[in-house]
This record gives sequence, structure tokens and C-alpha cells, in this order.
Amino acid sequence: MITVSAPGKLMLMGEHAVVYGYPCIVTAVSERLTVAMEETNSGKIVVEAPQVKNTRFVDQAIIEGCKAWGIQHTGLLLQTKSNFSNCYGFGSSSAVTVATLFALVRLFEKNVDKKELFEIAYKTVLAIQGVGSGFDVAAAIYGETLLYGNAGQIMNPLPWKLEDDGVTLVVGYSGMKADTPVLVKEVAQKREKEPEKVNRIFEAIGKLVLQAREQGDAHDWHAFGKFMNFNQEYLRDLGVSTEKLEAMIFAANKAGAYGAKLSGAGGGDCIIALVPKEKQESVENAIIKAGGSVVPVATSVAGVEITNEKEDNEMLIVVNDKDEVVSYRSRFDCHHDASLRHRIVAVILFDDKHRVLLQKRSFTKAKHPGLWAVTASGHVSKGEKYEEAAARELKEEMGVTVPLTFVKTYIEKPDEESEMVAAYTGLTSEEIHPNAEEVSEALFVTKDELLRSMLSGKIQLTPCAYQALQEIQFL
Ligand code: PMV
Repeated sequence: MITVSAPGKLMLMGEHAVVYGYPCIVTAVSERLTVAMEETNSGKIVVEAPQVKNTRFVDQAIIEGCKAWGIQHTGLLLQTKSNFSNCYGFGSSSAVTVATLFALVRLFEKNVDKKELFEIAYKTVLAIQGVGSGFDVAAAIYGETLLYGNAGQIMNPLPWKLEDDGVTLVVGYSGMKADTPVLVKEVAQKREKEPEKVNRIFEAIGKLVLQAREQGDAHDWHAFGKFMNFNQEYLRDLGVSTEKLEAMIFAANKAGAYGAKLSGAGGGDCIIALVPKEKQESVENAIIKAGGSVVPVATSVAGVEITNEKEDNEMLIVVNDKDEVVSYRSRFDCHHDASLRHRIVAVILFDDKHRVLLQKRSFTKAKHPGLWAVTASGHVSKGEKYEEAAARELKEEMGVTVPLTFVKTYIEKPDEESEMVAAYTGLTSEEIHPNAEEVSEALFVTKDELLRSMLSGKIQLTPCAYQALQEIQFL
């Protein structure tokens, strides 16, 4: 079983013009859609999606994914869950498409990069929806904030963190659901009738997007807001704004927003307002007074990733430099804050020929799928001792229990984390039973064999495994 989640999106600038090849700016938002997938023996594909109106996108994603990557299965069970309502226009269709395809890739251990994932996801969305620039698919895959254009030819991450600059994006929902494909088609008809006028509008929007991007890069959000307002004027000229949206936008600007506009196809859904932090409350109140409701979201969040909600809520032990307990925090917090140094264990088993037992991490792992790690490793949970966690991880991952010897503790700093590692070694003559959910292969190697395999690229160690083998003086 694998669980993955993909974020929704909000268009910051450039909607409609982006359908015609111009660039837009899109940000991934904290509302996420989750897909849990497992292979069954039923011979059928069962989709349980209580919050989704219909499962067309999931069904099509499975067809396209299996075809593109030669996946043959004996039956699939899928469950989807979202923490956002699909009526806001946050892109639940593209998020569910991306999450389904990513789950397929990882469950069936396919070597697919994000670009290829994008191609198949975009193809899936077009097969169902007929139209669309693909900006929502890009946001679901890459996350963050992106300059996107030309059906995916342009995809530049914009390292903006609004909160760090004292600004925030306020989202106001109009209460009306927009029909994006219908609106895109209406704009296309308008363009056929008045090509010169509409093309001029698209060109102007394209230019505004690039100018706004420069302001964003310069952290000048006041100026960025002005460009949002100009963008809104063009959207009004295109005929996609509504009275309600206009009222909310006017109210937000009057209450102190740097700028505000509709976001997405128009005709309903949401407005966004770029707001200095100190004006947030008054802008939110103004939007509510104008008949909208405020939807709290964070922007620039991570793209599609493997998640395990149960594990994410597990409490880990946070320690200081001297390994003294400071607090208990969730796995999720510990993995996203390098100041929360938490306890983990690394277990390294040898056989009587002094060969070390390594494991290849399964492709369903969130971190370093397919890379090689020490025999077993994992977090120490609240209430657990190092030696208990070491024995538990060894049993869970390798199916064996052997006497373990404590070697040392040391600090490691993978990615955005910081960990206090207790290393244990042991000798095994028993048969091992690797847990297929976590381990895709297990191997005993001598030091020379390992070094040769690393040089030839046959074995790529995770940074933590490399450090562990050095700490116990095997490498
Ligand atoms: O309505 P939304 O949030 O899905 O956004 C649509 C944006 C358009 O530019 C109108 C269409 C597109 O696919 O880019």
C-alpha cells in the first residue's frame, strides 16, 4: 500500500492568456488531495472516492499510466481523500490525476522523472477536459511557485516566500462554482469573433506577467499588487469577471490590499488579494462584507510526495547536543525543521565473513527510494529506548532478532533535518526475511565489493548510510 498526496493550486497571474502560449504565475496551495493505492488479486480496479463527483480522472490516469509505463497488475484498490472542497477551483482534478499517476509509478517501481510524469498527467487531463494549459498539473507535480507557459516548455521555479516578506495571500470564495472548460471555450469564441482585440489582451497579459515576476524577484509586493490590478482589468475586458467577483476585489483593495484579482477561469470560484500582514484582518472582513467567504491557505507548498499520515502524526523525541530530551514533536514537524534534532537508530549486521548486510530501500519510500541503506534504521518513538527501537526496526525491516551491541551516538544532518543517531552492530547467522513493503532487496557485501559497486554505480548509498558505515569504521 502506498499513500501519496498532491497540492491544489492558485493562479496568481496570467490565466486565459496561458492557454495561448503566454506565461503565467501559479502557486501550489496547502490544500492537498491524497491517494492510497494497493495491488489486489481481484482482477478489478476499485476506486473509492467519496468526495469526488466522479472518478473519470482517476480511471483515465490508470489507463494512461499503465499504457505509458507498461504496468500490468492483478487488480487495484484506490482510495482518495481531499482536505479541500472541489468547489473552490483549487484544481482537485489535476491533483487527483497527478497523485494517482505518482502512486502507480512508485507502487510498480517505475523509473519516471517529473517531466515524464507531467507529460502523462497533462495528456490525461486533456483527454477528459479537452482544454487546459497544464499549469495546474505542473503545480501539483512541482509544487512551490512557478513561472509556467507554453504547455510546459516554460517551468521556472520562483523562490518566493511571501510570509518572509511580511505579505500574505488572502483568498475569497465567491460561493459560485466556475466551469473552466466552458469559460475557456467562450474566450476562444470571442477570439474568433474579435481576433485583434483578444490577441492584444493576451499579449498585454503576457507582458504583465513578466513584469510582475521581476517585482516578485525584487520582493516589491506593492508593485506586484499593481500588476495584479492591471491583470484584472484585462480579465474584465475578456468578459470573464462577474459582479460578485468585482465587488470582492473592490472591497479588498479598499481595505488595504496591494492588489486583487480573480484567480482561474473566472465566472465564479475565488479572488486573491495580496495583502501586507497588518491589513490581513481588515481585508478578510471586507471580503466577507462583500458577500464572499475567506479560505485560509498557505502558498508555495511542496509538490506531489509520498505521505503517511499515521506516521506523520507519530511523536518523536527531540534532544539537545548532549542527547538530553527537550520535547516531543510530530514526525512531520521534525522532518521540516532542522532545529528539531530527534533520535533515530542505525542497525548494522555482519555475517561471520565480516560482510555487511545492506538493504535497497523500496520505491514506496518517501525518501531515497531505490538507494541502499544500512541493515535497518528508523525513528525512536516517544516512550521508547534506543535499544528497543533498534530491535524493533530490525525485526520490522529484516524479520530477525539478534543480540545488538551499542557502538556510539553521533549527529547527522540529512536534507532539512537533524538527527541524533545511535548505532548498533550485530552478528547474524540466521536467515533474513526482508519486509517487501520497506525493502526491495537485501545483500551481504564485503568492504571491497561495496567500494567497487559504489564506483561502478551499481550501489548508491544514502548519505546517512555512508556516514553510518564511516562512523562504525567499516568504510
Ligand atoms: O479555473 P481554473 O482555476 O482551473 O483555472 C483556469 C485557468 C485558465 O487559464 C483559464 C485555463 C488553463 O488551463 O490555463
